[in-house]
Amino acid sequence: MKRIGVFTSGGDAPGMNACIRAVVRGAVYHGIEVFGIRRGYSGMIAGDVYKMESHSVSNIVQRGGTILKSARSKEFMTPEGRKKAYDQLMAHGIEGMVAIGGNGTFTGAMIFGNEYGIPTVGAPGTIDNDLYGTDYTIGFDTAVNTALDAIDRIRDTASSHDRIFFIEVMGRDSGYIAVQSGIAGGAELVMVPEVLTPLSEVVETLKQGWSRSKSSSIIVVAEGDEAGSAVEVAEKIKSQVDENADIRVTTLGHTQRGGSPSAYDRILASRLGLGALEGLLGGQKNVMAGIINNELVYTPFEDTIRLPKPISEDLLRMVKILSV
Ligand code: F6P
Repeated sequence: MKRIGVFTSGGDAPGMNACIRAVVRGAVYHGIEVFGIRRGYSGMIAGDVYKMESHSVSNIVQRGGTILKSARSKEFMTPEGRKKAYDQLMAHGIEGMVAIGGNGTFTGAMIFGNEYGIPTVGAPGTIDNDLYGTDYTIGFDTAVNTALDAIDRIRDTASSHDRIFFIEVMGRDSGYIAVQSGIAGGAELVMVPEVLTPLSEVVETLKQGWSRSKSSSIIVVAEGDEAGSAVEVAEKIKSQVDENADIRVTTLGHTQRGGSPSAYDRILASRLGLGALEGLLGGQKNVMAGIINNELVYTPFEDTIRLPKPISEDLLRMVKILSV
């Protein structure tokens, strides 16, 4: 293999730039040409590619977002779109790719790899930490710390006013950000999609807090929770708690996607970027590089996409014990 492509796709995540840097610098080290593909599969279809050198990735290890930009391409989901992408890759002599993204990115890469035989190795880049085959995904740690910073600030004002706050965090169908930021922020309760939290339990938790003279309560709600958004949960429980209860809702939203990556994310992204590149050069294809128990492993895309990544029920249990 003499020339490869690298791209980021799906929702951006802090640390994607550090990952791109590792792929590019690793390629330079191994004497391989590397082309950046802008805007994920959309740019692949449009032929929006450029040759990257070592200096193309200078001063980006600390930057959030992705210098290659990102997109979710509907066209790539069609056979016609994938044919255009293949023609562009052939026109640029690209023989293999490193794809940085999440579930949707790897689903696309797997279908494309099966159809056209172009080998792709993935690096897991998503704040959601929802990918089987790696303990942590690039961007998760930073997102948790961003959410935590917000929770700490909200705690200050909540406690000054004796208020209840429902704070909604991202994660799509996964509760990882909610659990970790909730534990670190001393939340009274965490609601996640993986485990049913009856509204009666939310009400009970709040009542118990008052009976112990708690000056504030924070409920962290993962955006994919079955009870609905934080606004909806707050609305539903309003009538079931003391009429004097002062309730507020904060949705953290895309603040969790931005910002300078944490040291942990930069190191993880560097390991996974280099690991994906060296896997590709070593003959791996249609797999995702991941770190499990501090070891680099490759998991077939099929498994990363299909297999669930269960949340630790022990951690959820701990939230309840520690909030008493
Ligand atoms: O997958 C990352 C993520 O931020 C999810 O947590 C969230 O559900 C989704 O992307 C938001 O997507 P968009 O940026 O397209 O609104």
